[in-house]
Amino acid sequence: MKNTFIAALLALGATGIHAADPIAFQAEQIFRSSFRADNPKYWMTRLDQDEAMRLCSQYKDNPPAKVRALIEKTQQATIRYPVEGKLIGDWKEGEKLAAVGTGGHIGFIQPDPPGRVRGGNCYACHQLAKKEVAYGTIGPSLQHFGKLRGNSDEIVKYTYDKIYNSNAFTACTNMPRFGLHNWLTPEQITHIVAFLVDPESPVNKD
Ligand code: HEC
Repeated sequence: MKNTFIAALLALGATGIHAADPIAFQAEQIFRSSFRADNPKYWMTRLDQDEAMRLCSQYKDNPPAKVRALIEKTQQATIRYPVEGKLIGDWKEGEKLAAVGTGGHIGFIQPDPPGRVRGGNCYACHQLAKKEVAYGTIGPSLQHFGKLRGNSDEIVKYTYDKIYNSNAFTACTNMPRFGLHNWLTPEQITHIVAFLVDPESPVNKD
């Protein structure tokens, strides 16, 4: 898969960006030196861009259609599902996970302490349940998500996939890739899916 990806990139002529841009190189060095970690192998690798991020940086988040399609296809291929295959969990668990935003804070990078729930921090960017009045607006409002779209198998799968790896649908989105980076487990994602689509969830109430 990776070889196909690289071959396709070469075909698109997308190579040698970093070497050609000393300012970008210097900026990256400064960025890297502003993080420190007890165990460099554990976390510092997160500062290395993968193919998708590199391409998005190269094209300033607006890649040509061919590159965009390639990114979305390779990101789609990373999506993993829960062993039992059920994609809707418990909305009450999802409600908690959507509101939690701990772990991996910028600055001192360290392993999560035992028992820490990482959470999705969805409210940082989205409006969801009406009762939560503090929310960010980087992403669209998801209030009434299930009420508006229903909970057909198609919608449920889309919602799961989107949370697992948002770049599979929007190549250079600002939304984190929660499943890909083990920020949320597949099971936790099913709970958040329920929070979005279950008719009983506060997301779908007035
Ligand atoms: C850092 C900001 C950010 C965070 C955190 C974030 N998102 Fe997003 N999200 C976005 C942006 C921006 C978009 C719109 C662009 C896109 O589709 O990727 C989006 C789009 C979406 C969509 C697609 C909406 C549609 O109309 O189909 C869903 C669903 C979604 N987010 C769910 C979530 C959930 C659930 C969480 C928490 C687990 C979350 N997001 C966390 C930024 C974020």
